[in-house]
Amino acid sequence: MKNFITFEGCEGVGKSTQIRYLKEYLQKTNQPALFTREPGGNEVGEKIREILLKEKMSALCEAHLFAAARIEHINTVILRALNQGMLVICDRYIDSSFAYQGFARGLGLEKVMQINEFAVNNCMPQYTVFLDMNPLNSWRKQKGKVIDDRMEGESGEFHLKVYDGFKRLSQAYADRYIVIEPKPLKEETSQSIIDALRKRGIIK
Ligand code: TYD
Repeated sequence: MKNFITFEGCEGVGKSTQIRYLKEYLQKTNQPALFTREPGGNEVGEKIREILLKEKMSALCEAHLFAAARIEHINTVILRALNQGMLVICDRYIDSSFAYQGFARGLGLEKVMQINEFAVNNCMPQYTVFLDMNPLNSWRKQKGKVIDDRMEGESGEFHLKVYDGFKRLSQAYADRYIVIEPKPLKEETSQSIIDALRKRGIIK
């Protein structure tokens, strides 16, 4: 979908900060955009998010819940904004399902694709900004931040599988992926993201 941009990456690599910087840049330069996140985006999505981040469940159940939240998110938030000609920036989307449920939980890409078929249908991102940083070296880890949800509490091995999943996806969908390696200086990373989106005519 034109004008639909997603951000992906492992935990603690500075994704939220980078999204905030992009938001500030777009506000400063008077470029309207809708910022949203998964799982969440509306009331039902936020409730599903709470369950997903707290309750223990099977991988299959997890994949379906993410997809269910996604259906609501697409129909009530994303498509509405895109149809009004807005730029939509989403913090995590289908590639998180591929990386976490498909690769790390071991459901496989095919199954996750099937589960998401109804959800995503024709609503694939035009570009995906992938913050390419090993989760075991993440900024958050370096700062020793406390673990505050179920996914964050998973083992290092799990997070490495997620990372490997994203790497594979970035190769399989090379045309869609914008791979950015976070630098210690957050402003520098932000500039790389802005430059990459400008080069592709997404923002000015
Ligand atoms: P969140 O607190 O938003 O994490 P982050 O700040 O790292 O984005 O929690 C979302 C968690 O859900 C995160 O661990 C990734 C995971 N997730 C999946 O496993 N599958 C998905 O399809 C999505 C959208 C997220």
